[in-house]
Formats: sequence, structure tokens, C-alpha cells
Amino acid sequence: MTHSAGVGTRGTWGSKLTFVLAAAGSAIGLGNIWGFPMMVGLYGGSGFVFVYLICVLLLGVPVMMAELTIGRSARSDPVGAFKKLAPQTRWRFVGVLGVVTGLVILSYYSVVAGWTLRYLATTLTEGLGESPAEIQAAFTGFLAGPWPLVFHALFMALTIWVVMGGVEGGIERITKILMPFLLLILLLLVLRSVTLEGAWRGIDFYLRPDLSKISFSVVLAAMGQAFFSLSLGMGAMITYGSYLSEKEDLASSALYVSLSDLLVAFLAGLAIFPALFSVPGLKPDEGPALIFLVLPNIFNTIPFGQLFGTAFYLLVAIAALTSAISLLEVVVAYFIDQRGWSRRWAALVVGVSAYLLGVPSALGEGYVSFFSGFLSRVDFLFGKLSLVIGGLFICLFVGWRWGTANAVAEIQRSNPGFRLGEAWSFLVKYLCPLAIVVILIRQLADLLL
Ligand code: PHE
Repeated sequence: MTHSAGVGTRGTWGSKLTFVLAAAGSAIGLGNIWGFPMMVGLYGGSGFVFVYLICVLLLGVPVMMAELTIGRSARSDPVGAFKKLAPQTRWRFVGVLGVVTGLVILSYYSVVAGWTLRYLATTLTEGLGESPAEIQAAFTGFLAGPWPLVFHALFMALTIWVVMGGVEGGIERITKILMPFLLLILLLLVLRSVTLEGAWRGIDFYLRPDLSKISFSVVLAAMGQAFFSLSLGMGAMITYGSYLSEKEDLASSALYVSLSDLLVAFLAGLAIFPALFSVPGLKPDEGPALIFLVLPNIFNTIPFGQLFGTAFYLLVAIAALTSAISLLEVVVAYFIDQRGWSRRWAALVVGVSAYLLGVPSALGEGYVSFFSGFLSRVDFLFGKLSLVIGGLFICLFVGWRWGTANAVAEIQRSNPGFRLGEAWSFLVKYLCPLAIVVILIRQLADLLL
């Protein structure tokens, strides 16, 4: 099926593999390659990695199963799904929150994706700079001008075009071929990075167990990052699940998608940190600029670096595109299903709105000081906090309103042998909501007291 399915009759994915690839396409994106290393750097290294792993396995996988189950059972966009499973209730606002969150995330996601497009253009033509100082100056110079707006526009236009139905199935075909390539290039970068001089200090920072830096803010950040990276908490997986056929097993699908997402993030970190510590002057808490300052240094030290650099930025841009599509698709599906808009019109209006919302993020990293830090703040509020809150409500919905019995029955429709129903129900009913609430309250208390 294509991302333009949903007009008229609802499409279904061609096979389980197609679904897993499309959902992995939504999950794997800037969150893995840009966001994860950035967060590891900001939150002190290996402690974050450890908490992140636990969050993915104990919260991410169960919530993903919950979303897919809601989606396949209701066969609708997120707002429609809650309306169908709990008619005449306020639960539909969980869907509305998701739609709003999707719009806002898309706004700055496209800004960062635009940076990768600009890097693609520059590696192709003139190179990114010879020395670490030059690389840094080039990036700062780029952000200090109006060009980020142009690349933001370019990326958003691409996203709108695909969601409008421009490539009809093409995107799925490209992803199938290109994702393995992304993995291959990442592996290559990891190999180069860990063999650089001084690499061990990066590996140490990234992986040597050090739980002393774990605090409630680290846990909240890791939890938020897990939701962001797995595309959870705003209905993307409800929407994708709604196209999933009755034959497919929801539990193993959720597991495959989560594990491939985890693998890509892990490799991205392993490519970044050893290289980072081998470059004098770079610090891990660089924030949104991190990968753009570190990776060009690796490309400078490998044979055919320009070629690999070009391929890398192309693949990251494509990975970002398949994620951006799912963000836009959630909002568009809402306007089609609930408001009766045409797909083309919805994609255009929503895409242009997201572009405008993204303007402060595009300008705030160096051009207009009034907006400085805007991107990181919006990312925290919508890309982390709102997703976690959405995830909480999804758990409460499945656990206490729709009922885990109904949900397990839906899972068993395709997999009668599913035996983890009780364990999963326990996670969704008690552990996940409790963990989220405790961490949110702690964080709030820290902020207020
Ligand atoms: N998971 C995507 C990424 O890691 C971003 C995303 C978040 C996509 C939420 C859809 C929904 O890049």
C-alpha cells in the first residue's frame, strides 16, 4: 500500500515485511541519528544510554503494541479511533493532542532535515571544511544566515509532495532498498570512528556503565527520547496499525520495529562519540549541532570521504523523509477522516502551516537571537513531554477504558498462541502509567521547588 491510501477504501499493507519496513521507516529518522547522540551528549553519557534501553524495552515495546492494537481494531485515524472505541467520551482528545503534537514536531523536524539537505549539497560540491575549526565555522556561518529557511522549505515541499500521493508507492520501494544502505554506511562510520586515535575515551563516555549521573531529568529525557524515536504517543502507530491486516502478529511486529530502531540509534552513537573525543575542541553537550560538527571530521579522514559523506547525508535525508511523512500523514488523516477534506488540500494546508510554525526554529540557531533556543524548547515540550503524556493516556485507555481483555483478544485474532497477554496487561495497566506519572511529578516538583 502507499501512504496515500485512506482515500475512499482503507488500504492494507502488502505483507508483514512491508508493514514492518514502513513502521521502521517512521521510527528510524533524525531521532536516531541526530536526536539520540545529542541527548546522550547533553545528559552525561552512558547513564542515559542505560536508562534509554530500559525505557525502550519496558515502555516503548508495550506502548507500541497498544497503539498498533488500537489502530487495527478501530481502523481509523487517531481521533476517529478513540471515538470508535469509546464513543461520546472525552478520550477523543488524546487523539487531538496527538494531531497537534504531530504538527508541531513536523515544524522543527523539517528544519533539522533541511540542515542535512544543505550538508548533502555542500559535500557534493565544495566539501564541508578541512579542519575541525573550518567545519565549525562553516556550520555556524550557515545557521547565522537566512539559508536554513530555504532548506526547510525544500524539505517540507518534498514531504507534502509525497503525502499528496506524488510518488504512489515509490517511497516504499525506495525505503526498502535504501534502509539497508544506511545501515551499511553507519557500520562503516563506526569502524572508522572506533579506530581513530583517542577513540577509547568516547567509547568510555558512551558505554562504560556509570550510573552516578542518573537523575530524574535524565530519566524523563530518556523516556521522552524513547517515545520520540519509536514514533509513539501521538498516534503515528495507531494510524499505521489501522492499515495492518488481520493476519499479522502485532506483538512481533512491535518488537521488530523497536529493535531495528534501537540498533540504528546505538550505531549512530558509536559512530559519533569516539570521533568526537578524538577531535580537539569539541564537547559532547553541543546540542542540536552535534552530529553536524563531528561527522564531517570522519569523512575527512577516510578514503573517498566525499563520496561516503554524500551518500550518508542523502540516506539521512531519506530516513528523515520517511519519518516526516508519518508525522504529516497523522494530521492529514485526521482532516480527511474527520473533516472531510481532500487529501491534496489537507497535505498542502497542513504542510504549509507546519512550515510557518517552523520559522522561529529555523532562525533561532544563529540568525535571529530573539528565537535563540526555540528549537530545543519546542523539542522538549512537544517532541518529548507531550509524547510521554500521550503515551500515558494511551496506556490508561487500553488498561482501564477499552480493557486489556479486548486488546489481548485483538492480538490473539492473528496470533492465537500469544501467551504474554498477562505480562503485557500488567505493563500497560500498572507499570507504564505509574512510571510515567512518578517521573512527571518528580520533574514538575524539581521545576517548581
Ligand atoms: N521517530 C521519528 C524519528 O526518530 C520521529 C517521529 C516522532 C515520527 C513521532 C513520527 C512520530 O526521527
